[in-house]
Amino acid sequence: MEKTGQREQWGSRLGFILATAGSAIGLGNIWRFPYAAGENGGAAFIIIYLIAVILIGFPLMCTEVALGRKTQKNPVGAFSALAPGKPWRIVGMLIVIVAAFILSYYSIIGGWSLAYMTKSVAAGFKPGVNYEELFGGHISKIGEPILWHGLFMILTLAIIESGVIKGIQKWSKILMPSLFFLLIAMAIRSLTLPGASGGIEFFLKPDFSKITFSTIQAAISQAFYSLSIGMGPLITYGSYLSRDDNITDNVGWVAGMDTLVAIIAGLAIFPAVFAMGYDPDAGAGLAFITLPAVFSQMPGGSVFGFIFFLLLSVAALTSSMSLLEVVVAWLIDERGWERKKASIGLGIIVFIIGLPATLGYSVLSDVKFLGMDLLDTYDFITNNMVLPITGLFTCLFAAYVWKTENVMEEINNPKGKISFGSLYRILIMVIIPIAVCFIMIMNLIEKFGA
Ligand code: PHE
Repeated sequence: MEKTGQREQWGSRLGFILATAGSAIGLGNIWRFPYAAGENGGAAFIIIYLIAVILIGFPLMCTEVALGRKTQKNPVGAFSALAPGKPWRIVGMLIVIVAAFILSYYSIIGGWSLAYMTKSVAAGFKPGVNYEELFGGHISKIGEPILWHGLFMILTLAIIESGVIKGIQKWSKILMPSLFFLLIAMAIRSLTLPGASGGIEFFLKPDFSKITFSTIQAAISQAFYSLSIGMGPLITYGSYLSRDDNITDNVGWVAGMDTLVAIIAGLAIFPAVFAMGYDPDAGAGLAFITLPAVFSQMPGGSVFGFIFFLLLSVAALTSSMSLLEVVVAWLIDERGWERKKASIGLGIIVFIIGLPATLGYSVLSDVKFLGMDLLDTYDFITNNMVLPITGLFTCLFAAYVWKTENVMEEINNPKGKISFGSLYRILIMVIIPIAVCFIMIMNLIEKFGA
């Protein structure tokens, strides 16, 4: 399609690795993974998760990156370049739309995070405050959460508007090392608190009796979400990767870093939660209610509270950048828009898509879908329903339309330390599609109760 000028490329291998790790490392690592592990058998869950990452996540990530690099296009362009005609274009379109929806609620949570960061400076985390009420009070206001959501979107679009090298790569190189550093500092503080061992036990103690079909489902879904599979960032970031760079080794780094951060996050969070005598929790409740209460009891708590919310904001920002880039790349490649106009225009649209979900705790609190508020509904529809579908179609596309030998040629060229052979063929043609269908069916049974 028409392009204005040359397509940008990452300045270095590190640029691609850090930007893609930035997409992968997000709320999924910090608040989903640790709790999923603790609840589902600790180290036993982590082993299953690792198997899912190696056998399902890694091959699919390489496939998506290869699809982007081969076609040098956004998801819509990439599918249609290799299979002209409507049906596959629709899959690409679905990916782009879903990226916009995830971004809209990711930005709301990013906004909460920024708000709590400023709260930790302004008021600190003091004992005697009811943090559940504080959080409820914050999200059920009208103006404030909208303002923070808007601010978070402005940060995201400002980076994307500056382009692949001057925006995404530059900021990933600053933000990702900072995130590692802050997380390690938190883990050291948390692990050295008296009473930390209860948290380590909750998070890591292997309990193989907890491994059931639903644990396996949880591990596979977590791998999909955490590695940003089926949502477009891998295709899009792959389209800026040079033909001289090897795909498998680079993606291996990303998957490894993502897993490491998830594990360190568990070690940063649960020892402190248990040391201060709180119960573990999942999701927003853990980050915005339990942890502030934990910080309020901890020596140096306000500083660590600030560090935590800074870390959460950074993790959310690098993921949201990758989501906005998916949609922006589509407008640039397929519709010939200028980057600046595309970033600002889409930033505003995504902000508006997020508004109902922001208001889901105030004006629209009566609107429920299967008992879920609007933000949870966005999350449920995108992650539990659409993501497995786009993941499945991507896999079928590679296996039966683009064909495994062609995918492998792209992936193995130039050859890296890891190269793909007949195992890849079996995984992508049979095992992964079955695994994805399995999680789809389990999701439906869980939600709609059979
Ligand atoms: N991988 C991100 C996380 O773990 C979430 C995400 C999904 C980001 C899809 C981009 C695309 O939080």
